[in-house]
Formats: sequence, structure tokens, C-alpha cells
Amino acid sequence: MVQLTQALAAALLATAAVAHPGGNVNKEILRRQAHLDHPQRRNVQSCKRSLVDSGWVREQHMRREARLHELRVAAGFAKEHELVRRDPAEVEEEYGAAAACTLDPESTEGPYWVVGELIRQDILTGEKGAITHLDINVVDTTTCQPVTNAYVELWGCNSTGVYTGVQARGNGDGSATAIATNALRGVQPTGQNGTASFITVIPGHYVGRTNHLHTIIHHGAQLLPNNTIRGGSISHVGQFYIDQNMLQQVEATAPYNTNKQAITTNARDMLFNMGRQGGDDPVLKVSLIGKTIADGLYATIDVGVNPNARQNPQPVNLWTANGGIPVPNSPWTGYPDSCRNCGFGGGRPPRKA
Ligand SMILES: *[C@@H]1O[C@H](CO)[C@@H](O)[C@H](O)[C@H]1NC(C)=O
Ligand SMILES: *[C@@H]1O[C@H](CO)[C@@H](O)[C@H](O)[C@H]1NC(C)=O
Ligand SMILES: *[C@@H]1O[C@H](CO)[C@@H](O)[C@H](O)[C@H]1NC(C)=O
Repeated sequence: MVQLTQALAAALLATAAVAHPGGNVNKEILRRQAHLDHPQRRNVQSCKRSLVDSGWVREQHMRREARLHELRVAAGFAKEHELVRRDPAEVEEEYGAAAACTLDPESTEGPYWVVGELIRQDILTGEKGAITHLDINVVDTTTCQPVTNAYVELWGCNSTGVYTGVQARGNGDGSATAIATNALRGVQPTGQNGTASFITVIPGHYVGRTNHLHTIIHHGAQLLPNNTIRGGSISHVGQFYIDQNMLQQVEATAPYNTNKQAITTNARDMLFNMGRQGGDDPVLKVSLIGKTIADGLYATIDVGVNPNARQNPQPVNLWTANGGIPVPNSPWTGYPDSCRNCGFGGGRPPRKA
């Protein structure tokens, strides 16, 4: 059973009072709390010593530094020979400290997970916004080794706060056409160094939530000939966030500034606040590639997982060659009006892991 702390109970009450069309996040709060309460919970910080001693922290820092420089050179903002390196000893020292971008915030999938997405790095598919090269390192917190054989799934809403692949009243403008595209959704293998990289946009905001990206980490999935995955298990269901100062700058640019949905800041988003508890930091480290947001962004984060954990997220739709189709009996069908996962404590209870 989940112990309801006083703070959690207050959080649930506050959230219930909002009753916004963007959704009821009570289930997600319960999931996160169950994870924080789990006696075997470990985060990336538990592995700091070992990751530093093996040289992994230094290697990854230098790889990312070189990658950002490569993007700068390609965009004409630096010359090949101009790479300025930070002192790696300082990077090792700071690794895992608050704001050093490590997380294990188990959250729920939310109402808009579409299963069956394509393995592809560039998930823009024509969407406009602050283009972001995202580099995600996945670390096994039970062995303190990079996870080399997993698939990272990523999805986010577009710059005006609408998810593709679904149609729901609560989904931004409630667009009936968004179901026909898989933009801003995709899957990437972690590979030799435990790194999955995507090209996407900073997500917009929608009613009741601050800007966030969703992620699911798959293990032992089978690669199908049509570039999708099937089967395996899911160890991690989480959300990434963006620093509020950066968000403010992004939201001031087009097309973000045409979004009519009410803004929720990080500070007022209960899931964001819970994601930062227990020594976690779910905020992406974001750098400008050039001089302005329009020149593109480079973002990194390290995610700690227990590959043996078993999460059981539920997709609302399935992506097919003909667009999104409903998953029969999904607990999210009918969201936000009438669905098994709509209400407080409704649907499946949060699972520990
Ligand atoms: C976001 O998606 C919705 C639904 O497809 C669409 O109406 C809107 O124009 C998109 N936003 C941008 C900036 O393209
Ligand atoms: C893995 O990291 C090493 C050391 O940084 C690097 O040389 C190699 O290219 C990386 N491999 C991949 C697939 O990124
Ligand atoms: C990929 O192949 C699987 C298995 O045949 C199928 O169920 C799925 O619909 C296909 N996905 C796409 C996007 O074509």
C-alpha cells in the first residue's frame, strides 16, 4: 500500500480542485510517490563513484561536448579548431549533484501514449518549434553500467500543445486530424554507450501541465522488419522537463506564442515538483547551438533505470501504416470525460518498482 504523506495528500487535493480538461494527474502523482517510497529505489547518484571511476562520466561529457561543437560548426557558429573543453575533473566532481540532470522519476504514461511507433532519430515530421538535439544516456542503477541494449521511446506535444496520433477533447484544440500523424514520436536504440538520441522540438504547454516530454524504456524487445519493436518489458515510464528561464524564452517565439491554452509553470506543476524529490533532477540540460533559440538547441540527460523493474503502461492508440487506431479496451479511451483511468484512484493502481 502507498503511504499517503501529508504533502502528498495536499498535492492530491490541490490537483483535484483544478479539474482541468488537460487531465487528472492524481494517478501520476500516486505512481511517482510509490516509486519514491520503494525500499530498493536507487538513482544515478547512487552510481556516481562507480561511473566516475570507470571513466564513463568523463567519456560521456567529452563526447557530448564534441557533439555540441560539431553542431555549432555545422551551423556556422564555430570553427573546427575552436572547441573549448571544460575541465573534466570538475565535471566528475559535479556529476549527480542537483541540476546535473539525472533522474528516475517513475510517472505514468498519461492518456496519450501511442504504441507501435517507428525507430527513427528525427521525429520532427514537419512540426515547427525550437529544434532540439536530445541526447539521453541510460544507466542501470543495479550494476552502474550503461544500458546498451534497450530502446528509448520519446513523445511530446507540438509547439502549440497538441499530441499527434490521438484525438481527444482534452488534447489541445481537440483536432480531429492529429490522429493521422506520428510527428514528435519515435524510438531509438541505446547502442554501445547507452545513448539514445533524437531530433525533436521543445514541447509546448497545455492546460494543467507545464511543458514536458514523455519517455518509456523498453528491454528485450524484438525488432520487426518494418522498423518497429514488439514485446519485451518496460522498466521506466518518465517525463523530462525544461528549465523555466529557457521555457520563457522558447514560449516567446513563434509558434509557441500563438498557443491559447493556459500556462502552468514548472513551479506550479505537481508532477514536476514530485519529479524533483528524492535527489532526482528531471530537467534537461539545454545549450544554445548558436545565438538564439531559432539556431537550435542541444539537450542532455542521464536516466537511471532498474532493467528488471516491470512497469505496465497502457497505450490509448496504436500507430499503423494508416495512422493511429484505438487500442481496444484501453483504460484511456474516452479521456478526459469517461475512461477507466480518468478519476482519482481509477483504473490500475500504481505499481511498485
Ligand atoms: C499542433 O497540432 C495541431 C493538431 O494537428 C495543429 O492544429 C496545430 O497547427 C499544430 N501546431 C503547429 C504550430 O503546427
Ligand atoms: C562510444 O563512446 C566512445 C568513447 O567516447 C566513442 O569513441 C564511440 O564512438 C562511442 N560509440 C557510439 C556508438 O556512440
Ligand atoms: C509493423 O509490423 C507489425 C507486425 O506485422 C504490424 O502489426 C504493424 O502494424 C506494423 N507497423 C507499421 C507502422 O506499419
